[in-house]
Amino acid sequence: MSTPVRHLLSSADFDPDEIAGLLDLGMRVKKSRPQVLRGYELALLFEKPSLRTRMSFEVGVRMLGGSTIYMAPQEVGIGEREAIKDVARAVARYVDIVGVRTFGQSNVEEYASFSSIPVINALTEDEHPCQALADFLTLKEKWGSLAGHSIAYVGDGNNVAASFAVTAASLGMDVRVASPRGYTLPEGMLTEASSRAAATGGSFNHGNDLHAAVSGAEAVYTDVWTSMGQEREAERRRIHFAGWQVNAELLEYAAPGAFIMHDLPAHRGEEITDEAIERPASIVFDQVENRTWAQVAVVITLLGLAGEAGS
Ligand code: CP
Ligand code: NVA
Repeated sequence: MSTPVRHLLSSADFDPDEIAGLLDLGMRVKKSRPQVLRGYELALLFEKPSLRTRMSFEVGVRMLGGSTIYMAPQEVGIGEREAIKDVARAVARYVDIVGVRTFGQSNVEEYASFSSIPVINALTEDEHPCQALADFLTLKEKWGSLAGHSIAYVGDGNNVAASFAVTAASLGMDVRVASPRGYTLPEGMLTEASSRAAATGGSFNHGNDLHAAVSGAEAVYTDVWTSMGQEREAERRRIHFAGWQVNAELLEYAAPGAFIMHDLPAHRGEEITDEAIERPASIVFDQVENRTWAQVAVVITLLGLAGEAGS
């Protein structure tokens, strides 16, 4: 009997040891660049725009000897031009692994249920697991270890926040998440992050107090007030998120030299000031760079090639 295909649809699909293993693999591969993806092809099916996710997947897979094919939003029409189950089964006849950027989490779940090849969530409304892996790989490079270090996410309880919370809690960190009322993380993600923190010896605190979350934090992370697909809510969100900005005043509460993080694209002047993102403590472009290495670690692992990538 063949083993079931493994996917990365949610940050919770990997247990804490596996998440730590992905970061280690990403760091090793960044140094050694083993040609383990020779003969393998990755497809990217994107229903939303992307700079970083697309480029990092394409560059990473090619650097390790593989090839890629990108399908733009107007070409795929997942669930519109064609039923999800037909897209999933067709793509699996051409390539070995697929990254899907779409709207609802249920789309990527339905896609995976019909896919005979591994599926990677390249961003949905609910989660952005590849982003979180790159973010913590970046911090691991900076700090050498992650457990016990404190990090605050302040802002919308969105896709980036959900994957951030579950991944940080899996790594035994002191995790704080603060969002305006009405924009907190979904209940399921709060429960997942709390139980992972309890299991790893970390801590997970969430609430609506911006300053309490940032107080003494060694890294401060934020994301946009209005995500892709929410453009019609932008005006309302500008009102509800007023004051939820990473700026010089807020950073006074953080630990001295605290890292400043953002997944990008940033809306400077809304969730973060230009001054904050340009500070020497800002590591946003290290996060960008490490998308490549976190994602090839995922590709290698889902293809069952981790043993060949060297230890
Ligand atoms: N951070 C991120 O996923 O960026 P893109 O939307 O440009 O891929
Ligand atoms: N929350 C943002 C992340 C972009 C990478 C969005 O979904 O648009």
